[in-house]
Amino acid sequence: MDRNKLSFEYVNTDFRYRSFWKDGKWDEGELLQDPYIKISESSTALHYGQQCFEGLKAYRTKCGDVQLFRPDQNAKRLNNSCDRIIAPHFPEDRFVSACCEVVKANEKSIPPYGQGAALYLRPYLIGMGHHLGVGPACEYLFGIFASPSGSYFKCGIKPVKFCVSKYDRAAHMGTGANKVGGNYAGGFIAHRDALAAGFADCIYLDSLTHTKIEEAGTANFFGITHDGTFVTPKSPSILPGVTKYSLMYIAENMLGMKVEERDCYIDEIDEFAEVATCGTAVVISPIGSIYYNGHLHVFHSETEVGPVTKKLYDTLTGIQFGEIEAPEDWIVKIL
Ligand code: PLP
Ligand code: COI
Repeated sequence: MDRNKLSFEYVNTDFRYRSFWKDGKWDEGELLQDPYIKISESSTALHYGQQCFEGLKAYRTKCGDVQLFRPDQNAKRLNNSCDRIIAPHFPEDRFVSACCEVVKANEKSIPPYGQGAALYLRPYLIGMGHHLGVGPACEYLFGIFASPSGSYFKCGIKPVKFCVSKYDRAAHMGTGANKVGGNYAGGFIAHRDALAAGFADCIYLDSLTHTKIEEAGTANFFGITHDGTFVTPKSPSILPGVTKYSLMYIAENMLGMKVEERDCYIDEIDEFAEVATCGTAVVISPIGSIYYNGHLHVFHSETEVGPVTKKLYDTLTGIQFGEIEAPEDWIVKIL
């Protein structure tokens, strides 16, 4: 593994966790070495998209410890996704302890402190077993694999160019607020078109009116108004991001900022001095400009991160990498 070249790509690690659900209960679960899974060709996850997943990271701190950032929030969100696709919950305490087991077993793959890289964990829960009728499965698999990861966008904390997608990511009362696979496959074409047109990614508008910013395909959106308020969209069809809610807390309670979760109209984008996306994989990625309706709107700068975004980034990553004291219950120490 060349740690200096880590991006957001799958890297096989030694151990993964798996637990199977059958006859109404989860088995004990175990660590395995085989990255492949043998499931029925008629599994509901393969045909009807009955699956959900999570993403979180284990961080190596300055003093060499290893810690997770708010894994209980991912456990809760996974179970909310399970409710939406009628799959059994995986107990929250077992979710957290399974994450810890996977991190410990793959200790040698945790990137060192100081490069902004971490060990990405991908928990998932899929419907399996022999099925043809459209409906929930009677067998499930919960698994977690680990992969060392660096920046999602190759340029790290440098601003990137976004466009606005003509496609919708999620319907108003659809599955947008849940982390289910179908939300992502539907966005491949929007992402491909954005890349082909020279943008790093695209922003989705609300599907009802196409007037309000929702989020990006892999991260939430926030803006800083000219008077320094942290604003992030409120909608029933965006994913409730752990990073976004953590940033709202940090902005209000640690940086003394005003915070608003409310409608953000694309036509009023010039209310923001700085905008960015935020999420586990992207961390915070400043948006230098947004192309919409034939017009390129440039924010703070196309080349330099804005001062408030930088402060938020430093505080968030400071907490994640153990340099800044975390709010109560945000950190789970593993090693
Ligand atoms: N929105 C979408 C569509 C995502 O896939 C993600 C990533 O998980 C996020 C937002 C950010 O969520 P989090 O901060 O929990 O990673
Ligand atoms: C994450 O940020 O953890 C995600 O899952 C986003 C994306 C890579 C799917």
